[in-house]
Amino acid sequence: MAEKKFELTNLVTGKKSVAEVKSGTLGPDVLNIASLGKDHGLFTFDPGFMATAACESKITFIDGDEGVLLHRGIPIEQLAEKSNFLEVAYLLINGELPTGEQSAEFTNAIGHHTMINESLLRFFNGFQYNAHPMAMLSGVVASMSAFYHDSMDINNPRHREIFAHRIIAKIPTIAAAAYKHSLGQPFVYPRNDLDYGSNLLHMFFAVPCEPYHIDPVTAQALDLLFILHADHEQNASTSTVRLAGSTGANPYAAISAGISALWGPAHGGANEAVLAMLEQIGTVENVPKYLAKAKDKNDNFRLMGFGHRVYKNFDPRATIIRAMCHKVLAKLGKSDNPLFELALRLEEIALKDDYFVERKLYPNVDFYSGIIYSAIGIPPSMFTVMFAIARTVGWVAHWQEMISDPAMKISRPRQLYTGAGKRNYVEVGKR
Ligand code: SDX
Repeated sequence: MAEKKFELTNLVTGKKSVAEVKSGTLGPDVLNIASLGKDHGLFTFDPGFMATAACESKITFIDGDEGVLLHRGIPIEQLAEKSNFLEVAYLLINGELPTGEQSAEFTNAIGHHTMINESLLRFFNGFQYNAHPMAMLSGVVASMSAFYHDSMDINNPRHREIFAHRIIAKIPTIAAAAYKHSLGQPFVYPRNDLDYGSNLLHMFFAVPCEPYHIDPVTAQALDLLFILHADHEQNASTSTVRLAGSTGANPYAAISAGISALWGPAHGGANEAVLAMLEQIGTVENVPKYLAKAKDKNDNFRLMGFGHRVYKNFDPRATIIRAMCHKVLAKLGKSDNPLFELALRLEEIALKDDYFVERKLYPNVDFYSGIIYSAIGIPPSMFTVMFAIARTVGWVAHWQEMISDPAMKISRPRQLYTGAGKRNYVEVGKR
């Protein structure tokens, strides 16, 4: 295929240069602007990275116009229907679906790394009972580098693999410890005979004084929610993990940075904000008032769980989760969930409103997920923690992809400086 190139001309000086166009397997071409500085003395200017490809990746592809999400080329709809979370984790990290033997080996490795150092458990006693669980999660995950320093040589593939097993296995245990601390209940140790979702339910909801029955419907719903939240290209938290990791920082610190970025209500914190918004709206009669607030530029209210930087069509994950709501709520005998009914009506009314239609604002992954978490018995303060548990496998996959690339460089963007010109220091008596 003929090489694709762009000719760039400075219309003031007439200086010309040629820039290479790179094509991927799917999606838009990219313009390699590496020579822009040398050829024209220019930087590109793209706040929020609205039109910037920050890296090359083989892990996930999103077609925002078509509402397509592929993990290593496999559509999310097929993974949601046929796979399970640990198999998707293996696919994201290793690039191919595992054989039966590889799957058993990976599941066994994860299943036997679920306990955390007993000293880490004591960290939770230092938090107020009402500390936000995301504060506890990011703090304790960063502290893992103080305990597991025997596997942090980022240039050693075996160390990278041990780190991946440890963080994927232990993040539910840390999440459960944060939840139990907030309840003032004793911590429940993980069980190696349980699958990933069942183990989390056990650690969240079991108490020492009576047997805990794990509902298979709930465990399956949790596993599917984890699949749907596992990875999503270069979203804000994944980009944070890549940037932090590009400095050579230990991987636990990089994952902790990703947890902090995910917490924001514009990102993973939206699932908690959606529940608060639905409770604030209260009834279908109030929907028009709140849609007006969402459209009012002088009101900072936004329709949480709506809109997306990339999807300008339905977020395929939201479509799957909305269908899940019907099934899970029915199986749990909670079909008449008023917040779910309100969410469905809110979506229906918003998608007929020109403001949302013109801006292609559709429900995203966070719009319905909280309905299911609530039905399972998980409180809103833990919703983003659930997102973080799932997204950890995506963060690990991207960190591994970046760190194992010999061409990796530290990420260090430039800027457009519009501050004061060079000037001299003025003594305090002369100011
Ligand atoms: C996630 O990147 C990922 O892949 C993220 C994620 C993942 O899996 O990692 O998919 C997970 O973070 C999903 C998004 C969760 N956030 C929310 O639900 C919060 C509400 N949504 C918005 O804040 C917003 O839509 C964003 C942050 C998601 C996207 O913001 P953009 O791409 O910067 O879009 P924008 O703010 O420039 O909005 C474009 C227009 C603006 O209006 P105009 O200035 O053109 O008149 O749409 C409006 C915005 O005011 N708009 C909204 C809106 N979202 C955008 N108006 C009301 N309610 C909203 N939710």
